[in-house]
Amino acid sequence: MNLYVISGVTGMTGNELARQLIEKKHKVIGFDNFFASSVKTIADIVENPLFDFYEYDLNNIDEMEKIKRKVVSIKKNYNQTIYVNCAAIVHTEHFYYVNRTFETNVVGMRAFLKQAIDVNADVYINCSTSEVYSMHSWSEDGVKESDYITMADAEHSQRTSYATGKLLTEFFIKDAVDEGQIKGCSIRFANVYSKNELFPKHIIPHILHSLKDCGKVELLENSKKNKRTFLYNEDSCQAIIALCDSSDALDGSIYNVATDEEISIVDLVFLCAEKLGIDSPEIVFNGYRKSDPERRILNTDKIRKRTTWRPQISLDMGISECVEELEK
Ligand SMILES: NC(=O)c1ccc[n+]([C@@H]2O[C@H](COP(=O)([O-])OP(=O)(O)OC[C@H]3O[C@@H](n4cnc5c(N)ncnc54)[C@H](O)[C@@H]3O)[C@@H](O)[C@H]2O)c1
Repeated sequence: MNLYVISGVTGMTGNELARQLIEKKHKVIGFDNFFASSVKTIADIVENPLFDFYEYDLNNIDEMEKIKRKVVSIKKNYNQTIYVNCAAIVHTEHFYYVNRTFETNVVGMRAFLKQAIDVNADVYINCSTSEVYSMHSWSEDGVKESDYITMADAEHSQRTSYATGKLLTEFFIKDAVDEGQIKGCSIRFANVYSKNELFPKHIIPHILHSLKDCGKVELLENSKKNKRTFLYNEDSCQAIIALCDSSDALDGSIYNVATDEEISIVDLVFLCAEKLGIDSPEIVFNGYRKSDPERRILNTDKIRKRTTWRPQISLDMGISECVEELEK
């Protein structure tokens, strides 16, 4: 059995990852400062003896020292110690504010990596983002990890500041692996969603809540053209576990993790409406977002070649799960 240390554990990826690991009888130490989540997402596992939860902040040196001491005191009981950094300032509304995202997403990530190295952890998984593809977000076969990046910059929009910070974290983990300090990798997720997202700010919960409340959805003008793929959080967590289980894959490099099931945002509204039993949803277009790519299609050949990971939850199944939860 392994010891997993998960930051941002009550977030979409963290809570499901903790659940899946506990089911497999691994030990999980997790913490979150509830910046964008609540203890409700872990209500079913918080009392489990395999799970130690702390309301701690990644940027609080004293609290992180307590996590470090806890890890050091128990790690000898486990085969491997694996750090997974899920804590981040994530939602699109924050992407434009470089100071808001920098401390947690860059400085916090680096401090957590240093802790992992200091305690002699075996693996560090860095959750990066497909936002780093910026304006080169799609191609015929999907963008590959090795493709050169075409970034919007401060001449165009502050949006890329979030992606730039995340891109820098990919260099930190690569450097640590190249220096032989730890094994690990970065994962570029695309549009993760979950049935227990508490803040209806991401597009799927926004559509579902709006339709349920009034049968009407307000979308940005960009949505007249935009298409996206969406990844259910059970699948994003399966990808993390698959990579942790594939030692050769932990070479400091980057893995795209996404589905190839592309849908226009307008069709997504119709799919959600159908699941909610609404015949004619009303769509109102309002506002425009700069430097927002029309499509985002990732090529996932690399993770498929190096692990057994394949997404299991179709968009249809995932939306059904979300609707079922919404109607409880
Ligand atoms: N959701 C997506 O579509 C998506 C896409 C690409 C990449 N990612 C990346 O995946 C990772 C997980 O994201 P998620 O989808 O679970 O997002 P999320 O917002 O649901 O979870 C992030 C968690 O981090 C916590 N957090 C924020 N600042 C913290 C701090 N200082 N200390 C402790 N906890 C803190 C939040 O409260 C939240 O629970 C992030 O690194 C994110 O950048 C997510």
